[in-house]
Amino acid sequence: LRSVGFWGTGSYLPERIMTNKELESIVDTSDEWIRTRTGIHERRIAADHEATSDLAFKAGEKALEHAGLSAEEIDLVIVGSCAFDMYLPATACLVAERLGAKKAAAFDVETACTSFIYGCAIGAQFIATGFYNKVLVIGAEVMSRIIDFQDRNTCVLFGDGAGAAVLGPVENGKGIRSIYLGADGSGGPSLLVPAGGTRLPHSLSTLEKREHFVRMNGSEVYKFAVKVMGDAALEALDRAGWKREDIDFFIPHQANQRIIDSSVKKLKIPMERVEVNLNRYGNMSAASIPVALDEAVRAGRIREGDRLMLVGFGAGLTWGSLAVHW
Ligand code: ACO
Repeated sequence: LRSVGFWGTGSYLPERIMTNKELESIVDTSDEWIRTRTGIHERRIAADHEATSDLAFKAGEKALEHAGLSAEEIDLVIVGSCAFDMYLPATACLVAERLGAKKAAAFDVETACTSFIYGCAIGAQFIATGFYNKVLVIGAEVMSRIIDFQDRNTCVLFGDGAGAAVLGPVENGKGIRSIYLGADGSGGPSLLVPAGGTRLPHSLSTLEKREHFVRMNGSEVYKFAVKVMGDAALEALDRAGWKREDIDFFIPHQANQRIIDSSVKKLKIPMERVEVNLNRYGNMSAASIPVALDEAVRAGRIREGDRLMLVGFGAGLTWGSLAVHW
């Protein structure tokens, strides 16, 4: 099997900033509550004309440029999200078309906030086997369209954005050194959009009950997240044959500062080696990790030879981690 690494990264954030102060005028909340309970100060909100594929396209374009590739050289486009443009067609097909990735296969992956990790894991298999050479993986979300701005338990947490990475073959022991993925459907009811699928199609009643929006049992997800973040990182470390102290840089999913802090404590990683963008962007679900990766790479916080740990968790419930030798 061939080694698979990251050839380039890119990200795109919508211009509009929504502060906690602004949310105070929408729901019964406070800047102080949001900051102290979550660590979020502000988030980005997509413009009315922007859908998930628009954000994904812009992030994908930047990742291609960074990798020095044209869209026609891409063999496969994977879009990870939980807020796709529509049921049909797959958002990845729309993005591939806009990019001009004419020779690429395209499909979506939906494991909520873990979608980028799952997308990378899937893309890496195609490259490892030699089936494909270059895969574009994008995590993109317009969470603001699927959250309920009448529900203070959820609407203060999320933000919109997109991040992307080009995967390709690498040498000298570099690249993805281990992959760990997991799922536990028994936790499905903790975080879901109840209506709009075949179980509960849209109706006047579901609209009135606001069942077309995200519902979350925050404390259940919190407990799960605190446990799984540390466990998933340790499992990927083990599979890579690395120790905790080998981690040069940690990119956790950005859902809550307290969840990040507890996993950092468990892994004994100094905070300066942890990428955090939650304060500026909120929880961007599938986009959180690739945006953090792109910003850290471009700012020079990740350097060649660094050992990275990427860990995601989300609805499903799902989780996943990657150990990457950069
Ligand atoms: N402003 C003010 N008060 C609020 C708000 C708000 N925005 N939201 C909730 N509250 C209230 C609650 O109603 C509750 O009041 P009550 O005691 O009178 O009922 C009180 O604050 C305390 O609520 P808790 O649930 O105890 O607050 P907690 O400290 O647990 O923080 C939070 C809540 C931030 C949601 C936390 O549980 C959390 O981060 N959970 C994980 C969420 C997560 O990671 N979700 C994303 C998963 S990724 C994906 O796949 C999309």
